[in-house]
Amino acid sequence: MDREIKEKIKYLLYPRSVAVIGASRNPRKIGFQVVYNLIKDGYKGRIYPINPNADEILGLKCYPNILDAPDDIDLAMIVVPASKVLNVLNEVVRKKVRSVAIISSGFSELGKKDLEDAIVNICREHKIPLLGPNIVGIINTNNNMNLSFCPHLPFKGKITFITQSGALAIGLIGWTWASRIGISKLISIGNMAMIGFEELIEFLEEDRDTEAVLLYIEGVKNGRLFAEVSKKVSRKKPLIAIKAGKSLRGAKAAASHTGSLAGNVMLYETAFKYAGIVSADGLEDGFDKALALSLQPPLYGDNLVVVTNGGGAGVLSSDYAEKFGVPLKDLPKDLVNAVKELIPPFGSPNNPIDLTGNAYRDDYIRVLDTVFRHPWVDGVVSIYVHAAITDPVEIADGIAQVWRNYRDKPITVCMIGGREVQVANIWLRDNGIPVYPTPRRAISAMAALRQYGLFLERERGNGGMVRNKEISS
Ligand code: COA
Repeated sequence: MDREIKEKIKYLLYPRSVAVIGASRNPRKIGFQVVYNLIKDGYKGRIYPINPNADEILGLKCYPNILDAPDDIDLAMIVVPASKVLNVLNEVVRKKVRSVAIISSGFSELGKKDLEDAIVNICREHKIPLLGPNIVGIINTNNNMNLSFCPHLPFKGKITFITQSGALAIGLIGWTWASRIGISKLISIGNMAMIGFEELIEFLEEDRDTEAVLLYIEGVKNGRLFAEVSKKVSRKKPLIAIKAGKSLRGAKAAASHTGSLAGNVMLYETAFKYAGIVSADGLEDGFDKALALSLQPPLYGDNLVVVTNGGGAGVLSSDYAEKFGVPLKDLPKDLVNAVKELIPPFGSPNNPIDLTGNAYRDDYIRVLDTVFRHPWVDGVVSIYVHAAITDPVEIADGIAQVWRNYRDKPITVCMIGGREVQVANIWLRDNGIPVYPTPRRAISAMAALRQYGLFLERERGNGGMVRNKEISS
């Protein structure tokens, strides 16, 4: 891709001024919602509604044509029917707008490849990056930009979600609030006529607001380029991919949804492995892993310890640890002896360490501190099963207090208890600790941290050696 176009991708995500072409006074139209969202969610740049039939929209002066806008425009968002897009785009070019995104549907996904190509050619000729068409919009929580018809901004955080399905972006926003999953950007890429995964991933390599990139992929434009760019970026920040369209029916659905060729599943898995991309099995797994990778350091080394107050949860964790490739091992003798001193005689001092049902905040603190401090230990999964005699918020606070002193070793937490542990969950996530409702999900997230750690070890030529202080600093 042309260097000038690449350099202008920043204007799609951090524009100082946005023109909405097809802005409307009718609250039932997408052109209304996009302007409304920019204002309501507190976008920090300047907004220029464009519509030949209105003088004012939502209190903002409206211009009949983008050429009449009194300012330089960083990003033009087009929301007029597909048949009008070419005309509008010619005006955008004359205005020397720096980047373009198109919400409108009705292009290659409907067999109108010629129309899509014509749009791409114009943008390419004038060196303007084009996002879409057929997208739900662009969201950046860092500048409060909800340039989309999603209902509101997601919960603020460090995950950037790039999705070929706009509807998924809309649906997941409420979920990110309920689960405290922090999002930096939501980028709907639709038909990927020009800008696709490859270009965005490369841009995000240097994006200070992104710690992990989650991809919802139906098909990529250029497999080889995708793998190479992803590998380069993975060395700096983790990528997680949800590959959709794996079944025959799913592949057919992908073709009519975004015009994507879903491709060979094995090829994708091989490319993910090569590039260090952590593969996820669906949305829940994708966000679970992205949450861990956006908040925690990678797991360097295989010495994982589970600390639980519930025996059954410990047994299940052992099973899942084996299943997900991070099997639990016996603890070194000195660590067993140290733990033995801290737990009741009916507890278990070996891996998984069972504190038993009457473990309070101070018991968690003492054992977790002893475990984290031991040089043999590479990472910890801490489990709490809610009991009437203990306060989950106190336990969560204890866990967070210990981890603060050992930030180079990863932790994931499982809190079992439904509504009773909700406040504790929020407390943990706000303190940078990923928390899950089941042992399976907490262990799977830890396994993702190990997978990423292994990739980094391999890349640095350590051949799978144990934690490297230089890496973890
Ligand atoms: N410049 C600026 N505004 C223009 C214009 C132009 N050249 N030509 C028309 N407009 C105005 C219209 O007058 C209208 O404003 P109004 O309400 O004041 O009359 C506004 O732009 C929108 O045009 P309209 O013809 O009413 O279209 P619409 O709002 O019904 O639909 C789309 C437009 C883009 C939303 C629709 O064509 C579409 O593609 N929808 C699907 C979007 C989608 O699902 N994307 C993928 C998500 S995953």
